[in-house]
Amino acid sequence: MPDLQAPPAPALCLDDFEGLAAGVLPVEVREFVAGGSGTETTLRLNRSALDGVTVVPRVLAGVAEAEVGCRLVGGQVGMPVVVAPMAYQRLVHPGGELLLARAAAAAGVPYVISTLSSFPLEEIAEVAPSWFQLYWLRDRAVVESLIDRAEAAGCGALMVTVDVPVMGRRLRDVRNGFALPADVVAANLVGARSEAHVGVPGLSAVAAHTASAFEPAVSWQDLEWLRSKTKLPLLLKGILDPRDAVRAVQVGADGIVVSNHGGRQLDGAVASVNALPRIVDAVGKECEVLLDSGIRSGTDVLRALALGASGVLIGRPLLWALAVDACGEALELLRKELSDAMLLAGCANVQAAARLTTGRA
Ligand code: FNR
Repeated sequence: MPDLQAPPAPALCLDDFEGLAAGVLPVEVREFVAGGSGTETTLRLNRSALDGVTVVPRVLAGVAEAEVGCRLVGGQVGMPVVVAPMAYQRLVHPGGELLLARAAAAAGVPYVISTLSSFPLEEIAEVAPSWFQLYWLRDRAVVESLIDRAEAAGCGALMVTVDVPVMGRRLRDVRNGFALPADVVAANLVGARSEAHVGVPGLSAVAAHTASAFEPAVSWQDLEWLRSKTKLPLLLKGILDPRDAVRAVQVGADGIVVSNHGGRQLDGAVASVNALPRIVDAVGKECEVLLDSGIRSGTDVLRALALGASGVLIGRPLLWALAVDACGEALELLRKELSDAMLLAGCANVQAAARLTTGRA
């Protein structure tokens, strides 16, 4: 007879946390986190493209331990990893953003507070060195106040997400009639509560809220205004075309995140890792280039570094880990995987990883 009280097997890779989380999360929350937009083609491409990147290891490097700590966006970090901004983290655990941010601080990696965080940004910034992610809202006064609040709370950078003029069509959420439970709110946004809890035909409640609250027609002029308003390091998240990367540098961005939002926005968009090399060629000397969408292991981080990224953002695996109160474990596993991958590739540090040769499977 199996022992029903036996603890779950420990996670040996980040994907294992998804299975553990599946045991504790309601299906509609699982699907909100896991899902992509449309036919989920881009969601799948993110993985297959990363799997297709090969790295040519170096040998006899005389290295006993790889140094994974490095500089990133002006600060020292424990590894070249950033916790991606993700909305409504109390959906998966009552400790939500506070738990994940604390684990990020312990691992020495920046935590990015979402505009749609379910704890107020000030409370999160108090527990961890954080960056703030800005969604451009229709009400400019609210945008200004969010920037002021992020500065006052000591956030170390501002990350503007530029790939959400509207929310991608996430069919799983529509089918599930996904809406926020009453105790999960967009804590930074006054008045958002009722909207994010009620769907309209064909749109989940979260998509309906985005449609009413977000400004779809944000432009480079708005970014110029933003650049003149804040001295914080500015990153633009959601860039896939080198021409936009060049423009980002022209408006004074300090970094860009090559991202397709984890396959949640334009379905059919290029896998972000496939967009990375041309963007590094175009602006890699002028600003920091980070990558997200599909990163699931230390090997993936090594692939990104070898392709010229200065670091990566990681999303869903940390929400799965949060669901089972294992954020620290997940980040430690990733650090160990990266350190092992670097050692196996003969890299003493992240600068050496950037000199590796890459290919295609
Ligand atoms: C996100 N993402 C996101 N991005 C952003 O700029 N602001 C946000 O509030 C959110 N919210 C959010 C919620 C959930 C549940 C997910 C899964 C994702 C996108 C996120 O920052 C990141 O780009 C992707 O998650 C990266 O892909 P992976 O690592 O999840 O594959």
